[in-house]
Amino acid sequence: MKPNVEVFADRSQLIERALELTLAEIKDAIAQRGCCTIALAGGNTPKPLYEQLAQQNLPWQNIHIFWGDERYVPISDPQSNAGMATKAWLNHVAIPPSNIYPMPTQAADPTEAAQTYDQQLQTFFGTGPKEFPSFDIVLLGLGPDGHTASLFPHTDALQVCDRNVTVGNKDGQPRLTLTVPVLNQARCIVFLATGANKQDALTEIFAETTDATHYPARLIQPMNGKLSWLLDAAAGEPLQKYI
Ligand code: 6PG
Repeated sequence: MKPNVEVFADRSQLIERALELTLAEIKDAIAQRGCCTIALAGGNTPKPLYEQLAQQNLPWQNIHIFWGDERYVPISDPQSNAGMATKAWLNHVAIPPSNIYPMPTQAADPTEAAQTYDQQLQTFFGTGPKEFPSFDIVLLGLGPDGHTASLFPHTDALQVCDRNVTVGNKDGQPRLTLTVPVLNQARCIVFLATGANKQDALTEIFAETTDATHYPARLIQPMNGKLSWLLDAAAGEPLQKYI
């Protein structure tokens, strides 16, 4: 399916559209399947969206929150993706704590933590070891180097295709990340990217021929789901031709 690319004059318009799209997918998922599963992005760009979602009146008991990736730090750490989303959104709505599934970062060994989260996903989605769960919504960001989630260029995590969760590596710092096959199993993937420092990566990601190990976000091609790129003008300038 051809990706939907939308470029907005500024970040607030982008966030408004991201909210609209997310609310529509939540409503759709609950109508069709009785619940909605969302894998959240970390980084700075999605924070205003989470703050907007905190203002919404939604059937929170039917919404289940997971993460696409996590820095290997305690949730109390300012670097924590779960910590950020909890402060910006989840602490402000009546979502049952049992509906929130932060990636476990307590274990001494990140590989063990990845296996723990993998098992949690299998239990929640009722999938077996070699099956990949379908999230209703996956939110993703984009790094200037073309990484997404914690799938960084030239790292082993890019090749992992026999499990749901693996250990990412950012400059030697461990991360936990959903793997490419799980991300590509999603029903709806939404990239949020802002800033001129993302232009080069976007140019490569949308180019005819690019080695995806250089620009891992290019590996995100949903099997049957929808793919949207929501960009501000600074980031999206090179992609005007795709709109
Ligand atoms: C993380 C993210 C990562 C992020 C990009 C973009 O944990 O860092 O999940 O993939 O989305 O680095 O980050 P910004 O939104 O801050 O530019």
